[in-house]
Amino acid sequence: MSTAAIIPAAGLGLRLGGEAPKALREVGGESLLVHALRGLRAATAADLVCFVVAVPPGSEHVVRTLLDPYAGDSALHIVAGGAERTDSVRHALELVPAEGIDCVLVHDAARSFVPVAVIERVVDAVRAGAPAVVPAIPVTDTVKRVDARGQVVDTPDRSTLVAVQTPQGFEPGLLRRAHACGGAVTGATDDAMLCERLGVTVQTVEGSEDAFKVTRPRDLLLAEWILAERRS
Ligand code: CTP
Ligand code: MG
Repeated sequence: MSTAAIIPAAGLGLRLGGEAPKALREVGGESLLVHALRGLRAATAADLVCFVVAVPPGSEHVVRTLLDPYAGDSALHIVAGGAERTDSVRHALELVPAEGIDCVLVHDAARSFVPVAVIERVVDAVRAGAPAVVPAIPVTDTVKRVDARGQVVDTPDRSTLVAVQTPQGFEPGLLRRAHACGGAVTGATDDAMLCERLGVTVQTVEGSEDAFKVTRPRDLLLAEWILAERRS
């Protein structure tokens, strides 16, 4: 069986700023999107047969030209993303083949430097029978719940908290059901959350600090450093 990868890359990157959409911003001379796609391809155990990339409407042609040289034998589909990340993933999911796929990965273009080992852990866990899998790392800050006035409501026990990353891996039928029901969920920030709403148990596997999401300008410095380390 094979894997399909959805890459949500349709965000504008407002927190990062700059002229181009975030996925097209370059680190080490290549766009974040190219780095993300190359990382997925390097996880050979995933046996990736297709990429579906959701991009800002109007940039489909530019992105196809950019990614074509990196897709290798995998099919490459480019779709216009939607207003929210969940909409972009839902649009992309429509192009994932209905047959022959045992795992769908959803991977943020902005988590461009996820190590191959993390991708393979996610795929392996799905193939071992977990219907929904997320990479996770321990939380280092103390996290508090606050109300609208900024007053602390409570402090969850940090040992029970993790920060989750991508790629998140899913049994294809579950991801389709989750998105079919997901319209009612506003503000979903990942796909696992839609599965949780269906009552499905989501499994965590060990993530990596290198799978951080490029969000603010200083994250580009960390990205440059990771890339320089890997190339040295
Ligand atoms: N994304 C998407 N479609 C959207 C919004 C986000 O495909 N409508 C993608 C982004 O391109 C990114 C991932 O979802 O790869 C995670 O989103 P985030 O880090 O929030 O990126 P942006 O939305 O681009 O950034 P910002 O929120 O700062 O504008
Ligand atoms: Mg966003």
